[in-house]
Amino acid sequence: MKKKRKIIIDCDPGIDDAIALAYAAANPDDFDILAITTVSGNSTIDVVTRNALDLTEFYQIDVPVAKGMADPLVRDARHAEHYHGKNGLGDCIIPHSTRKPAEENAVFYLKNIIMDLPEHEKVTLVCLAPMTNIAILIKVFPEVKEKIQEILFMGGAFSTGNVTPSAEFNIYADPEAAKIVFKSGIPLTMCGLDVTQKCTLKRSQILKLCQSQNKIATFAGDMAGHTLENTFEKYKGQISVHDVVPLMYMVHPEYFKYTETILDVDCSDGPSRGRTICDFRWWNFEEGQAGDLVLTDADPDSFQQCLIEALYELGDMLEEK
Ligand code: BDR
Ligand code: CA
Repeated sequence: MKKKRKIIIDCDPGIDDAIALAYAAANPDDFDILAITTVSGNSTIDVVTRNALDLTEFYQIDVPVAKGMADPLVRDARHAEHYHGKNGLGDCIIPHSTRKPAEENAVFYLKNIIMDLPEHEKVTLVCLAPMTNIAILIKVFPEVKEKIQEILFMGGAFSTGNVTPSAEFNIYADPEAAKIVFKSGIPLTMCGLDVTQKCTLKRSQILKLCQSQNKIATFAGDMAGHTLENTFEKYKGQISVHDVVPLMYMVHPEYFKYTETILDVDCSDGPSRGRTICDFRWWNFEEGQAGDLVLTDADPDSFQQCLIEALYELGDMLEEK
């Protein structure tokens, strides 16, 4: 029998975060979700936490949600409402949940849940947002590093950015946090724009989702449709579903190509601020040094088929409950 991975998802829902949570919920044989933590990113910390609570109820994911940091380590917060809509979910409405966030801040919550793991067990962190919570966790409670198997994150790019020519949103929002995580020694897998921009839903697929009778498919289609109609994505006729990638990579590594690297990030004030640097010079790697991976390519057809199937499956699973 396949061993489930224990994961914690740190996110800022966010349209693609919301679709990623649906993907995780649709794969209960692969993921044992221990908690969902939120961090300022696509919207304010209050909005993304509200969304995480509503989404867990909507998808019937029975895990705690802990609210994390409201601001990046150094700079002011920047959000992306122009892309994700005023409510962060493409202005699509789901029922309001009466669930409440954990009493502790996500950083303490993470520390406790990680240190409470049984002796030989470790957790995988899946980061779909700026890395503020994780950086503080690692700095304040370095003992957690021993209990973190790896960190997979959506962020960065080795080619071009999306917020600036150099930088991707999650990393640009808090490069100092990313630096702390990159230098932590915890094995990392970067799922950057180079690959996530190939992991799209096409206009025809979005329309089909919207017209379906399946509540999860319709919800995902409506959110994706909002992006398609209201942003520059309309010119491409498809939208990238970035945050699904780290989760799908864990279930289906065969859909992706990847290579070893050493990661760094530019924290300077110049035009490269927030740019991720992937060192591919393997001949310079000392033994045991290049523990990081970066995804370099994806099979878009497999991605689309797998995601669409997962959305319908979750809708069907919830109907049967
Ligand atoms: C990333 O930024 C956010 O807007 C998305 O949710 C995704 O995590 C893409 O650059
Ligand atoms: Ca996100």
